Amino acid sequence: MGKLAIRGGAPLRTEPYPSWPVFDETEIQAVTEVLRSGKWWYGEKVREFEAAYAAFQDAQYGVTCTNGTAALEIAYLACGLGAGDEVIVPAYTFIATASSLLRVNAIPIFADLELDTGNLDPADVEAKITDRTKAIVPVHFGGYIADMDAFRALAKKHNLHLIEDACHSWGGKWQGKGTGALGDCGVFSFQMSKNITSGEGGILVSDNEEIAELARSYSNVGRATNDQFYRHFLPGGNLRMTEMQAALLLVQLSRLEEQTLRREANAEYLNRALAGIPGIALQRPEPRITRRAYHMYIFRFLPEQWPGVSRERFLEAVCAEGGTAWAGYPIPLYQNPVFQRQGTGPENCPLSCPFYGKEMDYTQVHLPRTEQLCAEACWVPHATLLAEEADMQDLADIIAKVWENQVELAS
Ligand SMILES: Cc1ncc(COP(=O)(O)O)c(C=O)c1O
Repeated sequence: MGKLAIRGGAPLRTEPYPSWPVFDETEIQAVTEVLRSGKWWYGEKVREFEAAYAAFQDAQYGVTCTNGTAALEIAYLACGLGAGDEVIVPAYTFIATASSLLRVNAIPIFADLELDTGNLDPADVEAKITDRTKAIVPVHFGGYIADMDAFRALAKKHNLHLIEDACHSWGGKWQGKGTGALGDCGVFSFQMSKNITSGEGGILVSDNEEIAELARSYSNVGRATNDQFYRHFLPGGNLRMTEMQAALLLVQLSRLEEQTLRREANAEYLNRALAGIPGIALQRPEPRITRRAYHMYIFRFLPEQWPGVSRERFLEAVCAEGGTAWAGYPIPLYQNPVFQRQGTGPENCPLSCPFYGKEMDYTQVHLPRTEQLCAEACWVPHATLLAEEADMQDLADIIAKVWENQVELAS
């Protein structure tokens, strides 16, 4: 296959993969119309998008807000999580899944994941349930839907809230039903890197009217729907979405289904094309995921198959050949300064406050499979999956070329 590009050979591919975000005149027109209307504030576009997105996820209610982090916070507040409540979360996720718990003085309890899905392991979650546990927060990581049958059963058995961090799962379906309202409620992010975006933005969806109303109030300075403007019932923040964002998202939403199908087809193509390469491990097929959003295509670099080659070197070689892949999270959440008493500001509960009533030392937390995934994961960005089949074959050929020339890479 020739000399590796990283060693001075010709790269296998020179054409760039698609970039993100995807937009055209339709988005520009939609935002311009709102600007021209002079109606910029939390009005009909926001309502229209909330109804459209909730329906898209097969949920009854949608409550927009400023971003996915805010959506997590209103979800936690609306489910009544508070001081001293233990909440089981993964540590292979974006910081907000856990840090939004700290902001409501709840206690993140990290459980380990399944290596071949990247998601919370139901058995380890069950082992971590105590009489203080109030909720489980599965993350559908990279769009791979967590085992919601197992988590629903656990939530029922132990009387826990089930909150989906569906921030990577736009349009995802578990046995035909949309993600987000498979438990009590779920949240989505529309930040710039996400598969549907308004730069920033978020939404909570739910089939539970009470949770949706509480979430709306927490996102709208504690107001109650259909009550007076200057009567505030809860200590809510101002987390409202603007009309410009909602108008943009309505257009982005109209593109999402087609893009999701294309990513799914290309990911399946990649699964077939990469299946024979011994140096990497693909994610486990899951027939209960009947529609998968791909926020990224994830595989693992198997270090024992690459003597003398690090994952980082492998990824450099892939990128030098014109491929797209990177390492993702370098460390589990609990190794971040905020949990390791290395923060620069005042420490949150449970590290330095009386609510928990127990010692919590995150420096003692070790989740072997989470740490292994941090060391082995390779992420292909979702925009790459918007290319053509031939471009997927290029990516597979690139990985095969690097595999076949690994001795050259190690030397
Ligand atoms: C799994 C997950 N949860 C929550 C968030 C937070 O979303 P936002 O960036 O919109 O605040 C993100 C964002 O990357 C995420 O990846």
